[in-house]
Amino acid sequence: MSGKFISFEGPDGAGKTSVIRQIKADLIAQLGENQVLYSREPGGSPIAEQIRQVLFAPENKDMDARTEALLFAASRRQHVVSTLRPALAAGKVILCDRYVDSSLVYQGAGRQLGEETIWKLNQYAIDGLMPGLTIDLDVPSEVGLRRIAEHRADQVNRLDKEKLSFHHMVRHAFLDLQKDDPDRIKLVDASQPLDQVVANVKRVINQRYPELFANETQR
Ligand SMILES: Nc1ncnc2c1ncn2[C@@H]1O[C@H](COP(=O)(O)OP(=O)(O)OP(=O)(O)O)[C@@H](O)[C@H]1O
Ligand SMILES: [Mg+2]
Repeated sequence: MSGKFISFEGPDGAGKTSVIRQIKADLIAQLGENQVLYSREPGGSPIAEQIRQVLFAPENKDMDARTEALLFAASRRQHVVSTLRPALAAGKVILCDRYVDSSLVYQGAGRQLGEETIWKLNQYAIDGLMPGLTIDLDVPSEVGLRRIAEHRADQVNRLDKEKLSFHHMVRHAFLDLQKDDPDRIKLVDASQPLDQVVANVKRVINQRYPELFANETQR
């Protein structure tokens, strides 16, 4: 495999999708359209996107926590096989909007199913495919929730409606994961203005992959 797999994690409203949109545009300018892949979880392939719809449908509020964990893992499996592995084999840079860390955090810690259990379940799904670099966009829960409420009120999904305490737990679970795996997971302060966050993310990517953003980043 010759590609590069970069995942973006962090609480709801941290700015993952906004940051990736900018990074993707700038990477395409450097590498060309067919060398850069944006993908997201849950989803990222036709079957995985169908599973996403089941997960986020407002009428599915009675979904059992283990059912939810299994569906996230099932969606991830299909994403790995249909999208991520082929892209890596083609030498692409993958910018992935959430990956396995989100399951460890939301299902393992948030839903209290246990990170160990969720990790085993997901090992079966990912079959060894871990990102070479993970960016944890860290933001206080109040800020993330406020951003969603202010800018995306029309798109608030079932999981966004969880209590503030749930979001606090999620944020701290991401921070704990980063402490456990500081080589793979790099923390970026996402409470700053978007341009600043994007610049800091580019610097972190450049430190891991010096050929990316080599002209933009002072090393
Ligand atoms: N650094 C920032 N400063 C101010 N507003 C921001 C910043 N980053 C993102 N936003 C705004 O906050 C909202 C949420 O951002 P975004 O959708 O990128 O977050 P996300 O991490 O992808 O959230 P989710 O986990 O819910 O998908 C958007 O309306 C976006 O315009
Ligand atoms: Mg998003």
